[in-house]
Amino acid sequence: MVSVPHGGVLINRQCNEMEQKEEQRRANSLPAVSLSLRSISDIECIGTGVFSPLKGFMNQENYLSVRDSMRLSDGTIWSLPITLPVTEEELQTVKIGKEVALKGPDGVIYGLLHVESIYQIDPLKEASEVFRTQNEAHPGVSYLLATSPWVVGGPIRYFGATRRHGSFARYYTTPQQSRQIFADRGWERVVGFQTRNPVHRAHEYIQKSALETVDGLFLHPLVGETKSDDIPADVRMKSYEAILASYYPKERVFLSVFPAAMRYAGPREAVFHALVRKNYGCTHFIVGRDHAGVGDYYGTYDAQELLRTFHRDELGITPLFFEHSFYCRRCTGMASYKTCPHPSEDHVTLSGTKVRAMLREGITPPPEFSRPEVIQVLIDGMR
Ligand code: ADX
Repeated sequence: MVSVPHGGVLINRQCNEMEQKEEQRRANSLPAVSLSLRSISDIECIGTGVFSPLKGFMNQENYLSVRDSMRLSDGTIWSLPITLPVTEEELQTVKIGKEVALKGPDGVIYGLLHVESIYQIDPLKEASEVFRTQNEAHPGVSYLLATSPWVVGGPIRYFGATRRHGSFARYYTTPQQSRQIFADRGWERVVGFQTRNPVHRAHEYIQKSALETVDGLFLHPLVGETKSDDIPADVRMKSYEAILASYYPKERVFLSVFPAAMRYAGPREAVFHALVRKNYGCTHFIVGRDHAGVGDYYGTYDAQELLRTFHRDELGITPLFFEHSFYCRRCTGMASYKTCPHPSEDHVTLSGTKVRAMLREGITPPPEFSRPEVIQVLIDGMR
């Protein structure tokens, strides 16, 4: 089974080093658009083909089509708007048909955008469609409301060589590279796993259940921007190293990072997460309970339900659905309601919020919830 990139072709908008030097010189004299951390992540994902078939930030036609029908204007499934906000001041310098330099808060120019479309979004309409709520307490909605509604769309060129990845740089793999690695390892069936958390026993259970039926596990934690109370990516990376070293067969797992920002769009983000893992070369993708959720905006299995509405051939990746998993004291093992007949009193379940509170108070969560090696990293990380 070969995984075909979404839309058929893996996009590459990166300049090679020679081109980059020249383009950068040109970019210095262009009007600039300032980038948020999320937009830097988006440029990297577009540039390296993670967001194939997108070649740039969405023009108005694609934006409206994605917002209202979860498809690009050519009909290809795409569930999240990928837009580039500009301030009212920047708007004065941006012209259709011209280029703009894409400048980070660090002053670095990360790429260029050829302006194809300038438009205003309706944040509340986007919130209702994408997040299913207009509640400002939702982190995705509050981001939308705090950001300029003016956006520019058009194809980009990405100056990949300028991107610095810091302490876990070795875990960045482009879709082209991960595809090559899977091929080198002889993996034909690869299951992708998205996470913004340390790997706890329930995660481990569903990953290993999936791995029983495929060739390899692509452990792919998101390391772009997350909400402030999520565990920081550098601490999580150490926790992944710790659990992999003690509990996973090295030759069956590949750990790499997903540079995108978290949107907390629940079901729509689950579709997006599956499609981009297809671009990395995965044939299967795990969706458990409350995928990409936050608060109680989405039902436990809404993400699975939405994915079920798309035809498998059109998605091009097979979602693997898992029920809420836990350790059962009577089964003396990991299980879910699908496989365990005992009542919830016999189950060890802890929410992320509860675990963070326990760690802060110096209380160690039980080994039935999380491996001690992981807990140790989290405790060290909170000091
Ligand atoms: S997410 O926002 O990245 O989806 P998280 O890191 O908690 O959050 O989840 C990673 C994946 O594991 C998601 O597919 C999620 O549905 C699944 N998952 C998390 N906890 C459980 C659990 N206890 N039982 C079943 N699936 C789970």
